[in-house]
Amino acid sequence: MKRIIMIFLAVSLLLLISGCDKGSDKKPYTSSDVSSSSVEQPAVKAMAKAHSTEVVDGVTYIDGILIVNKTYSLPKSYNYGLTDETLKAFNKMRNAAAKDNISLEIASGFRSYEEQETLYKEYSAENGQKEADTYSARAGYSEHQSGMAIDVNGADFSMVGQKDMKWLEKHCSEYGFIIRFPKGKESITGYSYEPWHIRYVGKKTAKEMKKLGLCLEEYLGVDSEYK
Ligand code: DAL
Ligand code: ZN
Repeated sequence: MKRIIMIFLAVSLLLLISGCDKGSDKKPYTSSDVSSSSVEQPAVKAMAKAHSTEVVDGVTYIDGILIVNKTYSLPKSYNYGLTDETLKAFNKMRNAAAKDNISLEIASGFRSYEEQETLYKEYSAENGQKEADTYSARAGYSEHQSGMAIDVNGADFSMVGQKDMKWLEKHCSEYGFIIRFPKGKESITGYSYEPWHIRYVGKKTAKEMKKLGLCLEEYLGVDSEYK
């Protein structure tokens, strides 16, 4: 009896192995199995990459880049003025622009929590909160509080398309700045197009973002929404 069971088990095992063999004729997975359009687009690659998030004293850094938007706030006490790097890069850019007969001035640089609060309240009273939220950050949520954002030559929608704004768009990445709220990305940044609002991120990042056509939220893989 034992022998019969042993033979039965051996035959079953053989059948099982041969069955597996038959099923494994599908070629192993290779990257070419994925359509090339979904793996070779640099913008898609940048968005899909893993990001590192670090929170230091209430300030969020993603891949080492400080982020402030409707999702990520800054502490009320974050009062350091414009950073040296931001100011230095801006001055360099202003000198270069002057050679092209373009005048670039800081209309608004660093803003404290209290200054942002006053501004936002004024806009809300004037146009209602819903409208104000499309172009002004609530206190604690403005990039101006980071000391890395500058409004160049003003902050007015009549400036869209003017030659100083066109110069900025074309050249700011060469000095490490991005147009922080680009045209066409309103639903991602959470803000209307602001050609005057630049953010310092460093030359390498600014140039890469421009090349990929990504806004900061896309580049860092984050959203911008008041929770
Ligand atoms: N205008 C930008 C969104 C700010 O208030 O920070
Ligand atoms: Zn601004």
